Amino acid sequence: MRSRIHAHVGTMRQLEILLAVHDQGSINEAAKSLFLTQPTVSIQMKKLSDAIRGPLYQFVNRKLVFTDIGLELVKTSVEVLDSFARLDVALGSLRKFKPSTLRLAVVTTSKYFIPHLLGPFCEEFPDVEIQLNIGNREKTIERMKQGVDDFYVFSHPPQDIEAQSLEFLDNPLVAIAHEDHPLGKQKSINLADLCEQPFLMREKGSGTRYAIEALFKKHNLQPKVKMTIESNEAIKHAVMSKLGITIISAHTLTYGGQSGLVRLPVKELPIDSHWFFLWLSAKRPTLIASAFLKHIKTNGRELLQNELDKNAVN
Ligand code: PGA
Repeated sequence: MRSRIHAHVGTMRQLEILLAVHDQGSINEAAKSLFLTQPTVSIQMKKLSDAIRGPLYQFVNRKLVFTDIGLELVKTSVEVLDSFARLDVALGSLRKFKPSTLRLAVVTTSKYFIPHLLGPFCEEFPDVEIQLNIGNREKTIERMKQGVDDFYVFSHPPQDIEAQSLEFLDNPLVAIAHEDHPLGKQKSINLADLCEQPFLMREKGSGTRYAIEALFKKHNLQPKVKMTIESNEAIKHAVMSKLGITIISAHTLTYGGQSGLVRLPVKELPIDSHWFFLWLSAKRPTLIASAFLKHIKTNGRELLQNELDKNAVN
């Protein structure tokens, strides 16, 4: 069975004072070194001596001399305080995020900008390992229910999962067509005009599709869906191949991704949605997750918004 002697010893501070008295060889000098008064040091040593049930030191010819009991306690105090010093070092290196993993599950459309957020973050924390899972909205919601990731990215966050969120970026959904498309030559068109055209739609479970369907429903309209495609890139290529028109996140058109395409001036567009980072309320954030959140708030938001504004398709 473990000894309970530690329960009688007052506080760590008393052990610190004891070591100062031992090192300085005097109550007065110990008090000075710790910026305490002499009576405070004496009182604390008396308490410690009572707790240990024996004298810690005595005065021989006015000189402070430690007893065997006192010396034993000094030895143990050094070990205890050294253990805490080692704990401090261990925590310090943990705080330097070595090694650590950041887990993100993001919806398909956010893959256009998430890497641009991760780049500068990894420069700052080179030892961090990133696990990036990409799926459509429905798949990302499923993953969120399992709760293994640090952050989730949606533009249409689920309402039935207890989570905190940070809105960090605009997500305008715009209509695009091949650059030769006759609708592209017009100054202004209506959403109803899009319904005359073959429409390329994302798959069921996609957040983009969810937003498009909500818009058409609001205006009592229905697009003429010609193809259902599970990828933004494949949809863009289908538009370039004159297979139809679509409504798509403006982020898919950044970083040179708009060549051969034209944005249609539809009065009811863009759909003004926004991107959110979400994290589960029940999950305690890791140190690296907290650092990432700080990165988004301080640098990330502005960096991404600038890219979006700079690369917006005309
Ligand atoms: P999606 O999601 O990639 O599944 O279409 C985008 C969104 O949530 O808006």
